[in-house]
Amino acid sequence: MSDAVVLEGIDKRFPRTEGFKDILTFWRRPYLQALSGVTLNVPKGRTLGIVGPNGAGKTTLLKILAGLILPDSGRIEFAGIDVTNHPERIRERLMYVYGEERSLSWRLTARQNLKFWAALFDVPHKQVDSSVEEVLDIVSLTDVADERVMKYSTGMRHRVIIARGLLANPEILLLDEPTRSLDPVTARKLWLFIKDVLVEKLGTTLLIATHNMEEAAYLCTDVAVLRAGTVKAFAPVNEMARFFDKGRRCVISVDRVPEELVARLRSAPGILEVSVIPPNGHATGSLDMLVNDPDINIPPVIEQLVAAGSRVSQVVPVQASLGDIVVRLSEEPFN
Ligand SMILES: Nc1ncnc2c1ncn2[C@@H]1O[C@H](COP(=O)(O)OP(=O)(O)O)[C@@H](O)[C@H]1O
Ligand SMILES: [Mg+2]
Repeated sequence: MSDAVVLEGIDKRFPRTEGFKDILTFWRRPYLQALSGVTLNVPKGRTLGIVGPNGAGKTTLLKILAGLILPDSGRIEFAGIDVTNHPERIRERLMYVYGEERSLSWRLTARQNLKFWAALFDVPHKQVDSSVEEVLDIVSLTDVADERVMKYSTGMRHRVIIARGLLANPEILLLDEPTRSLDPVTARKLWLFIKDVLVEKLGTTLLIATHNMEEAAYLCTDVAVLRAGTVKAFAPVNEMARFFDKGRRCVISVDRVPEELVARLRSAPGILEVSVIPPNGHATGSLDMLVNDPDINIPPVIEQLVAAGSRVSQVVPVQASLGDIVVRLSEEPFN
């Protein structure tokens, strides 16, 4: 499948200005490396999650793609065309959507807001009305389109922002933390909308910056983990487990967790982490363990539990979640 976006060796640094003195001594100002050598590609129609903690460089990367800021070096290709020095060539085919409600005019209705933006986006005059109606319909706001935006809920305003992003009928949407200020129910509705409408129906290629792992796991086909401006991992979401090279998780269900045994397990060879959920009146307890090799490390644990008078009812291997993997990659010492 052909690539919608290719990024090669993108570097970006910002002058670090922490105080008045830095402004006065601008010629020897220290720099902050926001991105170093970022290389990624996104095949057409796929959804790439750009994940990582705050300050990792996610927004900077999306802004560079959107042509809002220029990289210091590196190459950007869009559908096979080199646009590194000509971001204007892709402006109509790519849209940067950020969840900034204040960028809407609250005194205007959703329909008026969208007409205003359609004019700014150079949607041909004759098409403005039909384009606006189409995007209102896509985000299911037709019925309330004549209400002022100030009366809308946060979730509805987010849908107006997405509708605005769709006005120019872009092939690529860049979403920057699309559910950041939404409650979990509204966030889920937006995820469904993104998956069913944007991806399935419209075939849009998506790049989503997020630090919400549930969101990334639900929406993305591919994931890039950014840490301090470098790509720590980049793979299809179902292959991310290979970056979790440190141990395997197992959950052992028991009716009794002897405390002295837990202390001994924690210092046993091959056992990396042990967390305990003690049994209560209703449920059995469990030992959640991260071990080097379950085949070798788990049988002695079960023997010791039985010897201590506990009854083991289940041993379940657990796949590392995307969150486990990202946390592990973010905790690794810098090299
Ligand atoms: N315009 C700017 N001027 C100076 N530093 C910036 C600017 N924009 C971003 N940064 C810095 O670059 C780093 C990456 O920021 P950002 O891309 O916003 O991260 P994220 O979106 O992952 O939270 C941060 O340390 C941030 O403070
Ligand atoms: Mg950001």
